[in-house]
Amino acid sequence: MSATFLGVPLGLISLVTLTVQNSALTIVLHYSRISVPADRMYNAAAAVLLNELLKGAISLSIAYRNAVLAASSTRGGDYSRIPTDDEFEGRRRSGPGGGGGIDLARAKFAATKMLGEVFSSDCWKLSIPACLYVIQNNLQFVAASNLDVPTFQVTYNLKILTTALFSVILLRRRLSAKKWFALLFLAAGVGVVQLQSSAAAGSSSSSHGAHEMDKTKGLLAVFCACMTSGLAGVYFEMVLKGSKADLWIRNVQLSLFSLLPAVCAVFAPGLSLVGGPAKPNPTAGQPVFANFGAWAWAVVLIQVFGGLITALVIRYSDNIMKGFATSLAIVLSFCAGIILFDFRVTTSFLLGTSMVVAATYLYNLPDAPRRGPPESSLPT
Ligand code: C5P
Repeated sequence: MSATFLGVPLGLISLVTLTVQNSALTIVLHYSRISVPADRMYNAAAAVLLNELLKGAISLSIAYRNAVLAASSTRGGDYSRIPTDDEFEGRRRSGPGGGGGIDLARAKFAATKMLGEVFSSDCWKLSIPACLYVIQNNLQFVAASNLDVPTFQVTYNLKILTTALFSVILLRRRLSAKKWFALLFLAAGVGVVQLQSSAAAGSSSSSHGAHEMDKTKGLLAVFCACMTSGLAGVYFEMVLKGSKADLWIRNVQLSLFSLLPAVCAVFAPGLSLVGGPAKPNPTAGQPVFANFGAWAWAVVLIQVFGGLITALVIRYSDNIMKGFATSLAIVLSFCAGIILFDFRVTTSFLLGTSMVVAATYLYNLPDAPRRGPPESSLPT
C-alpha cells in the first residue's frame, strides 16, 4: 500500500511539489543573478556550500529520527534489525507509547548505530555523485545567469537524454525503439529552440536587467550540467540498488562528501563568482557571504527543498512521475518568462518546446509488455 499524507498519496504530492520547485528555482535563480549590478553579486559557490550544509543537517535529523524509532520499538535489547518503512509508519501511528518509550540509552544506541551506517565501509562510493552534484549545482548558476528562464528550462531537459545514455552504458539498460525515438525527438526540439533564439538574439551576448548575459557561456554550462546530472543520477542509483542502506543515510553521505569540493569551489581563485560577471571580478576580496540577501537565501532554500524532494520522489514515486514533473515545469517557467521577464515567444520556440514536452511524454509512456524476463527497471 502506498504511503499517504492527509489521504493524498505521497507520490502525487512529491510530483506536484517537484514541478513547482523546478520552476520556482529557475525563476528565482535567474532573477537573483540578473537583478543586481556586478559589484553587489553574491558568491554562487557559497550558496552551493550552504545548500549542502542545510541538506546534510536535515537528512541527518531524519536519519536520526528513523534510528530512534527503530531503537525505541526494539524490545529485549535486540537491536539487530532495523524495521522497514511500513513498520515505521505503523509505529508512528500508534503514538509515543506504541514503541515502549524512548530512553537515553536507546537514543544513544540509535545515534551510534546511525553514525556506524553513515561511516560504513562503502560510504566512499558517494564521493563520485557528490563531486558531480557540486559541479552541477555551480553550473546551474552560470546557466541561469546567462540564459533566459524558458531557454534554460527547455535545454536543461536534455538531462533525460544524458541519463538514458549513462543508464545504457553503466547499467547496461536496454531501451526500446520508442524510447530512442523519443530521445532523438527531444534533442531535435532543443535544437529548434536554440536555432530560433540565436536568430532572434543576433549575437551571443545581450543585456538583461543589471547584468550582461553571455548565451554561449550559458549553453555550455547547461550542456555540462546535463552531463553531470545524468552521470550523478545513474551512479547514485547504482549505489542505492547495490545496498540496503536507508535513503536518508545515503543523503547524509552525499552531503558529507560534497563539503570538500564545495569549500574548494568557494576558495578556488577565479571560481569565487561562478556564474557572476566577467573579469575583472569586482567583488574579489569581499567576505564569502557578502551580498547574501533575501534572493540568495531564497535560492538556497529552494535548492535544499529540491534536493529533499528529489529523494522523496525516488522513494515514493518513479521515473515516469519525475519526467512529467520536468515537462510541467517547462510550461510553468515558460509562462513565468513571458509574464515576469518580458520573454518574446516565437513560433519556433513554441514548436521546439512542444517537441520537448511531447518527447518527454512519449519517453515516459510504458513500453508494451515483452515476453520473457523483464528488462532492468530503474527506480528513479
Ligand atoms: O536535475 P537533477 O535531478 O539532476 O538534480 C538533482 C538535484 O538534487 C541536485 O541539485 C542534487 O544536489 C540534488 N540531490 C540531492 N539528493 C539526492 C539526489 C539529488 O540533494 N539524493
